[in-house]
Amino acid sequence: MKKFIGLAVAGALLVAMTGCASGGSGGDGAGSGGDGDLVVGFSQVGAESGWRTANTKDIQRAFKDAGIELKFSDAQGKQENQIKAIRSYIQQQVDVIAFSPVVESGWDTVLNEAKDAGIPVVLTDRSVDSKDDSLYESFLGSDFIAEGEKAGEWIKTEYADADTVKIVELQGTTGAAPANDRAKGLRDAFGDDAKYDIIASQTGDFTRAGGKQVMEAFLKSNPEIDLVYAHNDDMGLGAIEAIEAAGKTPGTDIKIVTVDAVHDGMQALADGKINFIVECSPLLGDQLVDIAQKVAAGETVEKRIVTEETTFTADQAKEALPDRQY
Ligand code: AHR
Repeated sequence: MKKFIGLAVAGALLVAMTGCASGGSGGDGAGSGGDGDLVVGFSQVGAESGWRTANTKDIQRAFKDAGIELKFSDAQGKQENQIKAIRSYIQQQVDVIAFSPVVESGWDTVLNEAKDAGIPVVLTDRSVDSKDDSLYESFLGSDFIAEGEKAGEWIKTEYADADTVKIVELQGTTGAAPANDRAKGLRDAFGDDAKYDIIASQTGDFTRAGGKQVMEAFLKSNPEIDLVYAHNDDMGLGAIEAIEAAGKTPGTDIKIVTVDAVHDGMQALADGKINFIVECSPLLGDQLVDIAQKVAAGETVEKRIVTEETTFTADQAKEALPDRQY
């Protein structure tokens, strides 16, 4: 009740000061950005990878540094848990809801509930496939298609003189934006060139154990594999274990390309077990704080904010490793 009265007074003051209500869904129920009592609810995917752990730590650190209360929930990889968490944040009347969607589809109902409650939503890391982009204020994260294309371009250069390249693909979580887009980006880079032969493709769910298990099966059914394309470092690290257990040398007998560039992946790249890594940065915390403050204050923010990223060869990994934060 106290909070409701506070919000109503803050909202009335804001309208009186600006002479108009704010645009989008950020106008009602928000309005406490910058005054010290902002509350943000964040629903994280889970803890499936080194990337995810680094992302969680960075977000928690950034909100702590900014003195903003962050209500955090871990969905343990389940969409239904995220929907429950978002509904709970709506009930608690938080000022902003942020989340990294486990999968791309199936969000319209709960996002409409947030919109009806006047709570602005920010997508971080992963997007949704909703046709109605008024259901969220902004999407902050990587261009996953570009990441897949970068992997494909490296493969094309590396195998420029080869007649054929037999590739196995360790996909991320089925239905997740990075799994869909990294698969597409690779294929876009290859175009119609039949030389690049994706002989097997299966999900390893973005986990090291999943990558190892799927790679073991790939090795059994495909005696000739030139290259593994893993949608993240963790699955690539699992594949290394499977390749070594099969008596082959990762990075030499079978080349490996991954996405993320977390510390363990970069170490494997420096050691010659991975051949190339496309960076996907988990350090989204400070930008998320900035966006949350702005949307809570009713300001307009960019609908799409793309994270800046690079790629790494072995030499570049050796140079970057001493300063790598995650
Ligand atoms: O959404 C980002 C992806 O999710 C990362 O590449 C992967 O490691 C994580 O699990």
